[in-house]
Amino acid sequence: MKYLGLLIAVLILSCSDGRVGGRKVLIAKIDSLEKELKNMYKPGFGEMMSGIQRHHTKLWFSGINKNWKLVGFEIHEINELLEDLGKYQSSRKETRLLHMISPYIDSIKATIESKDVNDFKQKYTRLTNMCNDCHIKTKYEFIKVTLEFDSYTCKTTI
Ligand code: HEC
Repeated sequence: MKYLGLLIAVLILSCSDGRVGGRKVLIAKIDSLEKELKNMYKPGFGEMMSGIQRHHTKLWFSGINKNWKLVGFEIHEINELLEDLGKYQSSRKETRLLHMISPYIDSIKATIESKDVNDFKQKYTRLTNMCNDCHIKTKYEFIKVTLEFDSYTCKTTI
């Protein structure tokens, strides 16, 4: 009986002591962290595409002006954004098609060595067509990136 009393006392203590309270605090903390994570800023698909568009434009001007170092830099920036898309927009089904673009970007890399502007223009045009192919495949065909002579325009129409 002496021991039973002791056991009950231990049980009461363990129920009312910091462990239960601590668990409650932990659960509350996890809940609030989950809420914080949900509300954390995450760049949107279209937002990152706009970033890609900016570097894609700059890529054109760096190529036709034979700034090959800048060509390399802009390619790097596009690749970085594509990686981010894969990371932050992994739940979007369109993300699965992103790999389509890599061979076209890689082909432009070769012109950094050859310093061949005409080859650059051809490869850039193929890359741009590929951007539009993906827009068509993903039912965003109204987002059409167009090239006009040596100037560049991006027409996004709804
Ligand atoms: C994996 C397919 C895919 C590829 C490849 C792709 N896009 Fe997109 N793009 C999309 C989708 C999907 C959207 C619509 C995103 C959204 O939900 O806002 C989009 C949207 C855009 C937009 C509109 C952004 C806005 O919010 O106004 C631009 C501009 C754009 N893309 C440019 C490009 C350029 C330039 C390339 C090539 C260098 C490219 N895209 C390659 C799928 C793709």
